[in-house]
This record gives sequence, C-alpha cells and structure tokens, in this order.
Amino acid sequence: MSKTTNMKTLKNIAIAIFASVVMVSCFNDKKPNYQYFPNMYAPVGYEAYGNYEVFPNQQEAMIPPENTVSRGYTPYDYENNTAGLELAKEQLKSPYKVTEENLSVGENLYTIYCAVCHGDKGDGKGILATREKFLGIPSYADPGRNIVLGGIYHVETYGLNAMGSYASQVNEKERWQIAMHVMDLKAALNGEPGMLESLNTGASTDSTVVESKMTGANTVSESESK
Ligand code: HEC
Repeated sequence: MSKTTNMKTLKNIAIAIFASVVMVSCFNDKKPNYQYFPNMYAPVGYEAYGNYEVFPNQQEAMIPPENTVSRGYTPYDYENNTAGLELAKEQLKSPYKVTEENLSVGENLYTIYCAVCHGDKGDGKGILATREKFLGIPSYADPGRNIVLGGIYHVETYGLNAMGSYASQVNEKERWQIAMHVMDLKAALNGEPGMLESLNTGASTDSTVVESKMTGANTVSESESK
C-alpha cells in the first residue's frame, strides 16, 4: 500500500519536473514574452495611415467634406474688419441669457484678461494704461465707441489694432459672459442700471423678456451714440 503511494508521489514529482523543464526550455528571450492582455499592446482600432479596407484605396481616413465643422466649434460669420465690427454691433446677439452666474463668471474672466488694460471699472485706466505700455485704450463709456454686446464679442474674437484676440484664451460662452460684464461696467460708468437691474425692472424674469430686454440694451446704446 505504502509502496504504491510512494510510486504515485514519485510519478507526480517526475511529471512536475518534466513539465517545468519543457516550459523553461521553450522560453526564448530573443522573442517577446507572452502577452496576457494583447489589447493593451495591439490596438483594436484602426491606426492612422494603416492599410485597411475601410474606404477605397486602402485609406483608413478621408478628408472631411466641405463645410465640415469640428465639434464644439461655432462658425463666426462676421469678417475681421471695420465693416464686420459694425455689422456685429448692429446684428449680433448673445445666445446666452443675462444671469447672475454669467455676469459673475464674466467678471472673474474680465479681471484676469482685460482689467490690465481696461481697468477694473472699464474706464481705460488699467495698470498697463497708467504705465503707458499701451496707448489709446478707450473707456467703455466713450460715446463715440458705441460699445454693445455684439461688438464686444467681435473684438474679443478678433482683437482690434493694439488689442489682441482672446479666442484662444476664452471660449465662445466665456466671451459672451465677459461681454455681459463689460456692458455692466459701461452702465456703471454712465450711472445707468446694470444688465440685471435693467432686465428686472419689468418685474418679470421670464426668459423671453430677458432675451428681448437684452436686445433692448443694445438698441439703447446704439441710439445713444447717434
Ligand atoms: C493689451 C491691452 C488690452 C487688453 C488686455 C484688452 N484690451 Fe480691449 N482694447 C485695447 C485697445 C488699445 C483698444 C482700442 C483699439 C482701437 O480702437 O484701436 C481696445 C478696445 C476695446 C473695445 C472697444 C471696441 C470698439 O468697439 O471700439 C472693447 C469692447 C474691448 N477693448 C474689450 C476688451 C475685453 C473684453 C478684453 C478682455 C477679454 C480686452 N478688451 C482686453 C487694449 C486692450
């Protein structure tokens, strides 16, 4: 009985040794080892410039059709010139509503990007202006300028002479938020009620009213300069 057990154990040990010898002898360190998660090494998706039968002529990707717009990008139709600026002042309306939140985000961004030149109050007396690093920085209340939402957005997008474009620093929504704050600054300089106050005088915060009143704010400033 004990003899057979011994024989069995011996046989098992022999098999184990044989198996490990076979496995070790198969290992070739000149070749890559086993891949346990091949997906992590070999991509499942198509590789750029690979040869696949996805599109004609083994192309993996094709040039987008004309007028394709990349995700999150809104085309801006106004041209980067004086006529474009005038047109934007006349026609361009904010797609975002004037809210406390938008105004406060706009204020923060204004302090970061614009106040160095235009000043915290928008009077054109920022630190770079008082140190004469930049000349000709206007006050937002300058009646000859006709500062309106659409125009501010336009100038933020393209820049204007000595002022650079902010399109790479602040996105579309942020530019509108800053523009709202600039309108608030302009109103304060003129001693007029701010964006929110002038909207709420109608005793209604209904969104359509907000929208049309904002348009109204544009018209008021426009007639002001005429
Ligand atoms: C480097 C200084 C500088 C900074 C920073 C700057 N501006 Fe200006 N900005 C100017 C100058 C200079 C002008 C006058 C340009 C001209 O008319 O030739 C101007 C003009 C303007 C105008 C008047 C446009 C018009 O219709 O006549 C607006 C509005 C304006 N800036 C908004 C902004 C906003 C918003 C920011 C921040 C995103 C900003 N600026 C940042 C220098 C600056």
